[in-house]
Amino acid sequence: MAQEVRGVIAPGRDEPVRVETIVVPDPGPGEAVVRIQACGVCHTDLHYKQGGISDDFPFLLGHEASGVVEAVGEGVTEVAPGDFVILNWRAVCGQCRACLRGRPQYCFNTHNARQKMTLTDGRELSPALGIGAFAEKTLVAAGQCTKVDPRVSPAVAGLLGCGVMAGIGAAINTGGVSRGDSVAVIGCGGVGDAAIAGSRLAGAARIIAVDIDDRKLGTAQKLGATHTVNSRDTDPVEAIRELTGGFGADVVIEAVGRPETYRQAFYARDLAGTVVLVGVPTPEMKLELPLLDVFGRGGALKSSWYGDCLPSRDFPMLIDLHLQGRLDLGSFVSETIELTEVEAAFERMHRGDVLRSVVVF
Ligand code: APR
Ligand code: ZN
Ligand code: ZN
Repeated sequence: MAQEVRGVIAPGRDEPVRVETIVVPDPGPGEAVVRIQACGVCHTDLHYKQGGISDDFPFLLGHEASGVVEAVGEGVTEVAPGDFVILNWRAVCGQCRACLRGRPQYCFNTHNARQKMTLTDGRELSPALGIGAFAEKTLVAAGQCTKVDPRVSPAVAGLLGCGVMAGIGAAINTGGVSRGDSVAVIGCGGVGDAAIAGSRLAGAARIIAVDIDDRKLGTAQKLGATHTVNSRDTDPVEAIRELTGGFGADVVIEAVGRPETYRQAFYARDLAGTVVLVGVPTPEMKLELPLLDVFGRGGALKSSWYGDCLPSRDFPMLIDLHLQGRLDLGSFVSETIELTEVEAAFERMHRGDVLRSVVVF
């Protein structure tokens, strides 16, 4: 039987979000209903609210979440009621060319739940990133659920579902950071700091954190940065070269998404080094580079989507490392809040006051 629960809705372009009653159907074939325990506030939720991602209002916001599977539909074998899970954006098909080549993170046929959640007046909701987890319960494809060790705090677990995975994965999956490497991370918000934590995990010898905000550089140090550069008053490319014996970093991770920081990342790498682009630019942004610099410096320019993660491989592994005390995920939770406080949390995020605010249920 369909259930009524509370959820945070973005009703229209730039309108404040509000808590409304939503209707969650019973899971159909291949689907699961998850009782949400925690969901982080991410920039992408704000972009949905502002109409920057699509016009399919009303949105059910929230997508960095963990919870307990309540019910599963026909044919579901991945998870069972009672399992503690982290949600991911899309279930992979397992059959397309990308999946069969062992690269399911590039699956062509990813999917979400097929049924729709609605408002009580019957209007269909668009769940943010196919999740919609600022809600007491949500409906997803069963393949969007990854079972992890339930001893972890739900607030910490949820963050792996998006920003923190994007950052850690940028370092260990996309960037291939290895023991002894020098790494520079430009932009130390939640994503950049996660790239720092991932670089430490991978055994990087030098981790240079770059930001324009000293508060952010403080947190970056806590998470493993060995050097910090405030690029408001110092040229970061010069500073990174100096800190790497004049060479540049083996891996540079850009986690801002602006032309000037893309340029800095490009020039801060060692010859044959790797640049990993994580920050998402807007459609009108452009960057002009001398082709001879592109050709002559060798190495690789890579973009990193969702940290090139494989949820079934990476989520349980990272939770285990956290539970063993080898990966500090707790520092990413700046505050825990109620479902009614999402709008205020957007403002704190916008001002740069928090790494992550997390709604706990
Ligand atoms: N140079 C260096 N750092 C900068 C600059 C700049 N020109 N401009 C902003 N920053 C810093 C901010 O001070 C902040 O610490 O970049 C950081 C951005 O962090 P957040 O706003 O918290 O964003 P985050 O969630 O980390 O995401 C960063 O990655 O996945 C993408 O869409 C996401 O593009 C976004 C980026
Ligand atoms: Zn997100
Ligand atoms: Zn596939």
